[in-house]
Amino acid sequence: MDYLEITGPVTLHGSVKISGAKNAALPIIAMSLLANNTVRIGNMPAVVDIKTLLKLIENLGGTFSFSDENTVEINTCCLTNTKATYDIVKTMRASILVLGPLLSRFGHCEVSLPGGCAIGQRPIDLHLKALEQMGAKITIHAGYVQAEAPNGLQGTHIIFDKITVTGTANIVMAAALANGITRISNAAREPEVVQLCEILRDSGVVITGIGTAELSIEGTKGKLIDIVAFDVIPDRIEAGTYLCAAGISNSTVTLQNVRPDHLEAVTGKLEEMGFKIDTTENTMTIHPNSSIKPVTIITQEYPAFPTDMQAQFMALATQADGTSTIEERLFENRFMHVSELQRLGADIKLNGHTATVTGPSALSGTDIMATDLRASSAMVIAANIAEGVTQVHRIYHLDRGYENLEKKLGNLGAKIERLSE
Ligand code: EPZ
Repeated sequence: MDYLEITGPVTLHGSVKISGAKNAALPIIAMSLLANNTVRIGNMPAVVDIKTLLKLIENLGGTFSFSDENTVEINTCCLTNTKATYDIVKTMRASILVLGPLLSRFGHCEVSLPGGCAIGQRPIDLHLKALEQMGAKITIHAGYVQAEAPNGLQGTHIIFDKITVTGTANIVMAAALANGITRISNAAREPEVVQLCEILRDSGVVITGIGTAELSIEGTKGKLIDIVAFDVIPDRIEAGTYLCAAGISNSTVTLQNVRPDHLEAVTGKLEEMGFKIDTTENTMTIHPNSSIKPVTIITQEYPAFPTDMQAQFMALATQADGTSTIEERLFENRFMHVSELQRLGADIKLNGHTATVTGPSALSGTDIMATDLRASSAMVIAANIAEGVTQVHRIYHLDRGYENLEKKLGNLGAKIERLSE
């Protein structure tokens, strides 16, 4: 199994190109199930989760081909199967995103229940409840969601009890082929959901309220959609991760191919910590800050502070002059990185959903274990400033959502190497 060997401390310098957003690309790939044409997608991140979902599309009878590392064409005109099997879904819970499009297109499908996840229970009850409100008959049998809607899904008013990102995406896609108008209240406003809606709108589906909590989608009554070509938006979480990597190592780094407007909550917290960040339309430059201020963070839905940046900021807060508090409100078990950061020498105390981080702590290299995607990036960020050699194990978590992390960090001056056990 691969692991990363990182020697610290280092200062980073130069620029890094941000890849396409994993969490935008996943619903977009599922959306290709609604297509009447071959869908061309540019700026596709070359990460494992993308390959997994494309494999699922292939298992359903679709085809895909890459014209270069980040441009793919997907064709789902001749699907032969509507069952998303456990062997794929267990490796990536976002596979649930095929449920809405498959059901809306074929009137029936079976999708394996995703099961638990390192960061929390992560139920899909809100997805299922909304599809039932659209007229689907849903049964859970032998670990599978069996969904039927022989007369097609019906437009209706969905009010989500909680804001759910993939739940909103699933229902937007289901509604696109439904009969009538679907209104979604308390919808997710994440940029990844916005892009999905914009592509469908640009492809002729009548969608209003994009970017707000109130969406309205007029279905095509089962008619497949000619989907326009487009590029995936830049990954705001990858961008935030590199900003924290630069911040913790007192470095000047420029991000290219980034959307600063998607990162306002993140840059707001970095500025509170005393960092100066210059932005243009698609670049961001963070400058060194030798006296990092402590910060208070509460993770919430967009446009507030993203839970997917919580771990990286915890690593950064280990170098602040004073005590920071980080409250995780979205996932009940998203502090797995705490014990690993403590192994590097961080001073972190946990009390329920709140972590108290006291700094600055001198970190020293050792063996640490990645536990989930974002936790593992926090460990890499901390290892870059830890004295000596750190080995980060189970980096398959990282490969799921970061494109060429060690190459990009290496180009910025990090002493980082991928080795095999
Ligand atoms: C998306 O997950 C992202 N994944 C996650 O990123 C991200 O952490 C999360 O949104 C929150 O921003 C993808 O987009 C593929 P939710 P999702 O449904 O859609 C509860 C990463 O690191 N809930 O918005 O699964 C749920 O348990 C990943 O890239 C229900 O109770 O998250 C959570 O507490 C990790 N019932 C809250 O809502 C449901 O049916 C928000 O979850 C659905 C969700």
